[in-house]
Amino acid sequence: MTVITNIEDLRVIAKRRVPRMFYDYADSGSWTEGTYRANEADFRKIKLRQRVAVNLENRSLRTTMIGEDVAMPVALAPVGLTGMQHADGEILAARAAEKTGVPFTLSTMSICSIEDIAAHTKKPFWFQLYVMRDRAFVERLIERARAARCSALMLTLDLQILGQRHKDLKNGLSAPPKPTFANLVNLATKPRWCLGMLGTRRRQFGNIVGHVEGVGDMGSLSAWTTSQFDPALNWGDVEWIKRRWGGKLILKGIQDPDDARLAADSGADALIVSNHGGRQLDGAASSIEALPPIVDAVGSRIEVWMDGGIRSGQDVLKALALGAKGTLIGRAFVYGLGAMGEAGVAKALEIIRNELDLTMAFCGRTKVQDIDASVLLPAKP
Ligand code: GLV
Repeated sequence: MTVITNIEDLRVIAKRRVPRMFYDYADSGSWTEGTYRANEADFRKIKLRQRVAVNLENRSLRTTMIGEDVAMPVALAPVGLTGMQHADGEILAARAAEKTGVPFTLSTMSICSIEDIAAHTKKPFWFQLYVMRDRAFVERLIERARAARCSALMLTLDLQILGQRHKDLKNGLSAPPKPTFANLVNLATKPRWCLGMLGTRRRQFGNIVGHVEGVGDMGSLSAWTTSQFDPALNWGDVEWIKRRWGGKLILKGIQDPDDARLAADSGADALIVSNHGGRQLDGAASSIEALPPIVDAVGSRIEVWMDGGIRSGQDVLKALALGAKGTLIGRAFVYGLGAMGEAGVAKALEIIRNELDLTMAFCGRTKVQDIDASVLLPAKP
C-alpha cells in the first residue's frame, strides 16, 4: 500500500474506489473547466518568503471562525452527494472534523440528513441552505437546523441556476445510480463501495426525500435543480432568511466587491469568496485572485473567508496572507472520504494541518494570527 503523504495520493485512491459518476461529480467544473483549474493554478503562482533563525518552538494554528474556536482556520465545505462518495459519508466526515476540531458544514443536497449528523456528533455543526421554490420547505429546513443545534446557517448565493457540467450530463448523474448497463459494469469494479452502500439505508437526499411532496430520487442534477431551486432568489430573501434564522449567518458564493458590500450591509457574520469550486460561471476569476479586492472592500466589516482550489496547507497559508480569516476545503476532504472513509477525511485534515504548520514556520511565524502579506514575495510585474 502506498504511503499517503498528500491530498493527491487520496485523490488517486478515491478515483479507483468511487463509481465514475460520483468521482466525476466531485472532480469536475463547468464548461471548459478553466476556472476550476485556475483555482489551483493561481495558488501556485504565489511565492513565499522564507525566514531563518526565528525561534519556532510552541507553534499554534488555533484561532476562531465566527467566534467559534477552531484547531486551524479550515472548515469542511458543504458538498452535495457526499454520502455517494462513501456510504454514510456525511456522518463520517462530520466525525473526522469533530475529532480534529474544525467545523463541518452539511449541504442541503446531502445524503445523510440534518438529524443523522446531530445524532452522530456531539459538537454543533453548520448547515448550508439552498433556497428552494417551496418556501414552506425552506422554513422547515431552517427549523430542522435549529432543532439539530446547528451553530450557523450558510446560505449559498451562487446556485439559483446550475452551471453546465459536461461529465454529469454524460454520466446521467443520479442518486442512487440508475441500474443501466454502463453503470452496472462500472459498479462491478467497485466492490468496496457497493458493500458499504448495501450496509446503509442512506442512499437518497436525506434532507429532502420524505420532506417535500412529490420529490423522490433525483432524475438528473440539472433537471432536478431547475425544478426545485428558486431562480428568483435575491437580497430580499437574504434578509428574510436572516430574520427567520436569527443566528449566525454565513453568505457563500461572493466574487465581486459590489456583492461583498451588499453582503456586509446585510449584517451577515461572514462571507465566503467562492466560485463554487469552478462549477458555476466558467471564465470567472479564480477564488484566490478574487480575494484581495474583496478584503480591501469589506474586510473591516465582515469576516472574509475563501474556498476553491485548496489542496494543501500551503494554499491555506497563502489565502490567510491575502487577508482571508478562514478557509474551506471541499474536494480535498471528499477525496479522503472516497479513498478511506472517516480515516481518509482525518488523514486529509492531518496532511493540511502539517503542511500549514511547517509552511508557517518556514516563513518565520509561530502563530496563525501573525500570517499576513509579509510572508509573500511581491508578485513579478
Ligand atoms: C452543488 O452544489 C453542485 O455544485 O453540484
